[in-house]
Amino acid sequence: MEGFKIRLLLTVSIFLSIVNANRTVFINPNNRWQVFEGWGTSLCWWANLFGGIPDVRDKVADLVFDLSKGLGLNVIRYNIGGGDDPSHHHMRIAGDVPGFLPCKTCSYNWTSDANQRWMLYAAKERGADIFEAFSNSPPYWMTNSGCSSGGHYFSDNLNSYYFDAYADYLTEVVKWYKEQGLTFRTLEPFNEPTDRFWEYSGYQEGCSYNCSTMNIIIKKVGAYLNEKGLSNKTSISAFDENKIDEEVYSEHCIDNDAKSHISQYNTHTYGGTQRMKLFNISKQDNKRLWMSEVGFYSSKDMSTSIKLSEAILNDMRNLKPVAWAYWQVIEHAPNGNVGNDFALIGADFSNPTTSLDIRLSFYGFAQYTKFIRPGYQIISSNDNDTLAAFDANSKTLVLVCTNKNNISDVWNIDVSMFNISSFTAFRTSNNNETVNLLPNVWNITGGILTYQSPANSITTWVFSLAITNFTQ
Ligand SMILES: *[C@@H]1O[C@H](CO)[C@@H](O)[C@H](O)[C@H]1NC(C)=O
Ligand SMILES: *[C@@H]1O[C@H](CO)[C@@H](O)[C@H](O)[C@H]1NC(C)=O
Ligand SMILES: *[C@@H]1O[C@H](CO)[C@@H](O)[C@H](O)[C@H]1NC(C)=O
Ligand SMILES: *[C@@H]1O[C@H](CO)[C@@H](O)[C@H](O)[C@H]1NC(C)=O
Ligand SMILES: *[C@@H]1O[C@H](CO)[C@@H](O)[C@H](O)[C@H]1NC(C)=O
Ligand SMILES: *[C@@H]1O[C@H](CO)[C@@H](O)[C@H](O)[C@H]1NC(C)=O
Ligand SMILES: *[C@@H]1O[C@H](CO)[C@@H](O)[C@H](O)[C@H]1NC(C)=O
Ligand SMILES: *[C@@H]1O[C@H](CO)[C@@H](O)[C@H](O)[C@H]1NC(C)=O
Ligand SMILES: *[C@@H]1O[C@H](CO)[C@@H](O)[C@H](O)[C@H]1NC(C)=O
Ligand SMILES: *[C@@H]1O[C@H](CO)[C@@H](O)[C@H](O)[C@H]1NC(C)=O
Repeated sequence: MEGFKIRLLLTVSIFLSIVNANRTVFINPNNRWQVFEGWGTSLCWWANLFGGIPDVRDKVADLVFDLSKGLGLNVIRYNIGGGDDPSHHHMRIAGDVPGFLPCKTCSYNWTSDANQRWMLYAAKERGADIFEAFSNSPPYWMTNSGCSSGGHYFSDNLNSYYFDAYADYLTEVVKWYKEQGLTFRTLEPFNEPTDRFWEYSGYQEGCSYNCSTMNIIIKKVGAYLNEKGLSNKTSISAFDENKIDEEVYSEHCIDNDAKSHISQYNTHTYGGTQRMKLFNISKQDNKRLWMSEVGFYSSKDMSTSIKLSEAILNDMRNLKPVAWAYWQVIEHAPNGNVGNDFALIGADFSNPTTSLDIRLSFYGFAQYTKFIRPGYQIISSNDNDTLAAFDANSKTLVLVCTNKNNISDVWNIDVSMFNISSFTAFRTSNNNETVNLLPNVWNITGGILTYQSPANSITTWVFSLAITNFTQ
C-alpha cells in the first residue's frame, strides 16, 4: 500500500501544473443499488412527425432505438393523444397528436395516429421491450375549455361529467394495442398535473388535475383495467409531476384504494430536491420508481452533455430509479440552431427530410445508454461524478466518469475489489470525440487505474471480469 501511494504521487506530479486536482474513486461491489431496466424516451411530437416520413424514419429509429447504430433506448413512453378541436390551430409542429375518439357519439378510429404508432413498432423491432402509455390530455370534447392544451387560466380541465368516459377511453386504447400484440406494462393518466402549465390555446396537449380528481380517475382506470381483463399485464403509473417535491406531495394525497392500483411512481426531475425521500417513499409503498422525463437546452459544445450527465448522476445515485427517460430525443431546431430546444438531435420540423443535426449531447447520453444495459445493477462509487454498474451475466463492470471541470482532472480509480482481465475506454469531449474508442495505454497497478481526463469530457470504462465473486 505504501509503495503504491508513492507511485501515485509520482504519476500525479507530472500533471501538477496543468490539472485541477486528482481524485480517488473507490468502486464497491458489495454495496449494490438498483437493478436497472433501461434508458428511455417519450414518443409524442417527434415520433408523430418522423414516423410519417418514409425517407428518414428508419434512420431516425436506428439512431434512437438500435444499440449498434444508436442509443439503444428500450423504455418507450407512448402518448395516447386526446385530439384537439379540429377548428383549433395553436399547437407546435407535430404537437397535435391525433386521438382515437373524435366525438362523444363517434366510434373509435383505429387508423388514427399512424405516425407515432409506426415509431412505436420500430422501437419494438429494434429491441425496445418496456412500454408505457401516457396521456397529456383527454379528448378536447371531454374538457371544460373544449381545448386539449388546457383550461382557461390554467384551470383543471377534465369535465367531471366525463371522468368515467376518460378512464374508459384510456383503457380501450391499451386494450386495442394488446390485441395488436403490443402490451403496455403501465398506463399513466396524467402528465405534470399539479404545476399549472396547461392553458387554453397553448402549444401542446396538457391538462391539470387536482388531487381529488386524480384519486377518482386512478380508481376508475383501475376498475376498467380489471373489467377489461387487462390488469394482469397492465397497471397504473403516476403522477409524472414536473418536480420531485410535487411528486412527493401527490403520492401523499391519494387514498390507499387508489394506491393499490398503482405499480409505479414516475417523476420528472426539472426541479425539486427530495430525491432520497422519494426513493424512500417508493420503497415503503412497494412501487417501482422511474425518472420518466427531463430535458436540457441544447448547445454546440459539451456543456449540455455535462448538464445531462450530472443530472443522470444525481438521479441514479440519489433517487435510484430503475429507468431513466429523456423527454424528446428530436426537436425542431432549423438551420443548425441551438439553445431553444431540448433535442439530442436537432431537425427542421417544417422540412424533415433535410439533415439531422446530431449534437454532442446525443453522444454524451450514449456514453451511458450504450454501456449500462438493462439488467445491470448500479453499485456504489464514492465519487459523485462516477456512475458504476455491474453485470454478473456478462461479467462486466462499467464506469462512466464525468469531468465537469474546465481543466483536466487526474482520476485514481480504485478497482481493486475486481479481478479484471481486460478493459476498453470510450470518450466524448469537445475535442471531436464522439464515443471514440481510446487507445489501449492504461495499466492497472495495485488495483488503481490512473487516468487524466480532458476538460469537459465523459469517459466510459468497460471492464471484463475474470471472476465475479469479490474480495470482501
Ligand atoms: C493526489 O491524490 C493523492 C492520494 O489521494 C494525495 O495524496 C495527493 O495529495 C493528491 N494530489 C493533488 C495534487 O491533489
Ligand atoms: C380515421 O382517421 C384517419 C386518419 O386520421 C382519417 O383519414 C379518417 O378519415 C378517419 N375516419 C373517420 C371515420 O373519421
Ligand atoms: C377538483 O376538480 C374537480 C373537477 O374539476 C372539481 O369538481 C372539484 O371541486 C375540485 N376539488 C377541489 C378540492 O378543488
Ligand atoms: C389473471 O391472472 C390470474 C392469476 O394468474 C388468473 O387466475 C386470471 O385468470 C387472469 N385473468 C385474466 C383476465 O387473464
Ligand atoms: C431514507 O431512509 C433511510 C433508511 O431508512 C434513512 O436513513 C434516511 O434518513 C431516509 N431519508 C429521507 C430523506 O427520508
Ligand atoms: C456528493 O453528493 C452528496 C449527495 O448529494 C452530497 O451530500 C455530497 O456533499 C457530495 N460530495 C461532494 C464532494 O460534492
Ligand atoms: C467552466 O467555464 C464556463 C464558462 O466560462 C463556466 O460557466 C463554468 O462555470 C465553468 N465550470 C466549472 C466547473 O468551473
Ligand atoms: C484473478 O483471477 C485469476 C484467474 O482466475 C486468478 O489466478 C487470480 O488469483 C485472481 N486474482 C485475485 C486477486 O482474485
Ligand atoms: C473536428 O473534425 C472536423 C472534421 O474532421 C475538423 O474539420 C475540425 O477542425 C475538428 N475540430 C476540432 C476541434 O478538432
Ligand atoms: C503501461 O505499461 C506499459 C508496459 O509496462 C508501459 O509501456 C506504459 O507506459 C504504461 N502506461 C501508462 C499510462 O502508464
